[in-house]
Amino acid sequence: MDLYTPIKQALTKAKELYEAREHDKAAASYDKAASLMAIYAEQAIGRDAEMRRRKKAVEYREIAKKLRSGEIEAPGARDDRDDAPAGAQAPNGAAAPEGKQAKAAGEVKAAVLSLIKTSSIGWGDIGGLEPTKDEIKFALGITLAKQPANVQLSAWTNILFYGPPGTGKTLLAAATSRAIRNSDDVQAVFFNVKVSSILSKYFGESSKIISELYGTARDTSPAVIFLDEFESVAGKRDDQDSGPERRIMSTLLSELDGMEAKGRRDIYVLTIAATNRPWDLDPAVLSRFEKKILIPLPDAVARREILRIHLEKRGFVVQADAAQLAASTEGYSGREIERLCKEVTTRMVAEMNREIPGLIDQGLDEVRKHQLKVRPLGMGDFQKAIAKLHPQTTPADVKKYNEWREAQVE
Ligand SMILES: Nc1ncnc2c1ncn2[C@@H]1O[C@H](COP(=O)(O)OP(=O)(O)OP(=O)(O)O)[C@@H](O)[C@H]1O
Ligand SMILES: [Mg+2]
Repeated sequence: MDLYTPIKQALTKAKELYEAREHDKAAASYDKAASLMAIYAEQAIGRDAEMRRRKKAVEYREIAKKLRSGEIEAPGARDDRDDAPAGAQAPNGAAAPEGKQAKAAGEVKAAVLSLIKTSSIGWGDIGGLEPTKDEIKFALGITLAKQPANVQLSAWTNILFYGPPGTGKTLLAAATSRAIRNSDDVQAVFFNVKVSSILSKYFGESSKIISELYGTARDTSPAVIFLDEFESVAGKRDDQDSGPERRIMSTLLSELDGMEAKGRRDIYVLTIAATNRPWDLDPAVLSRFEKKILIPLPDAVARREILRIHLEKRGFVVQADAAQLAASTEGYSGREIERLCKEVTTRMVAEMNREIPGLIDQGLDEVRKHQLKVRPLGMGDFQKAIAKLHPQTTPADVKKYNEWREAQVE
């Protein structure tokens, strides 16, 4: 889909609404343009185009914010046909940064903008974990709903997911960001941060990136910041630690304290952190998480659901007993079940279409004419693959997670 036209339309509408003094509606239109632009950015070919578009998305989001808060300046009529529909100028008309420092600041900003992702994962794409999904929805609801008069509920701003690899932590974070959206289908902005890669790429600048990240998230509120591999930034500190590491930690602690502490309930930035090694986390960081949720290996019911997501929901026909299949995948993570499904389905397709290599030899036209054949999958198909796939998480690991959970006082 070409998004240029719908973005342009949203901006034109926003401008009309603004001129008609319908500031709230104009803001909604800018939000819509921002969300479309974020998707447009993901479709960009080349990093420069992508960054330009991301910057625009944030600009529109900032304008929407200012319209709502009343501190708006006239949206400019400038149409800088660069590769993005314009129609909105950066608020405050900030001059182009100059000099070395400004360049570094620009790089930090660019690094943060490149973390914005659009999530297409919904709750239905995650098998099992029903209580966890409900708990997250509950937390969001309490925070976003109208507060009762004279009662001050505290917002949930920090959630920690911990558990074995491949159990759906990243999926849950993505679904959460998609769940926060308004009736115009404008989603919360989702910052997907793989902490270890930020640290290795921008070590000296890491604490600046964290501040910039939270600053941008506040500007684009509502926003979800997902800090994956959290232990690599929030691990226990000792006296050997270097200056930058200490700075990163203190920046992180103050950002995790959030906006509510500063009396700003209108801004909502939810931090979701994920780790496989919760016992390595610094106690000061841990204490900032209102919710620590163990994402365990799937039980038999969840495994059935995960198998269904990766087989039947993709159109494959399964003629094996579902309960037996769930029983024989005990100990598997969601990722391992996905791998099993991939193995089984590709093997079946290869077996059903042995003529493919010959067709390739005959040229593109012959292959294109060929109709791929599939057949239902039986228990035998699965047994072979199951025998080869050994789960990565041991019962001893499972015990360690459970013990850690019990040691946490809620
Ligand atoms: N509950 C689930 N339902 C459906 N698919 C799942 C589930 N859990 C895992 N998967 C599959 O495994 C893949 C990996 O899951 P995900 O990235 O969420 O794991 P994770 O818990 O974040 O792992 P890690 O700790 O290694 O980061 C997903 O892309 C999905 O295909
Ligand atoms: Mg993950």
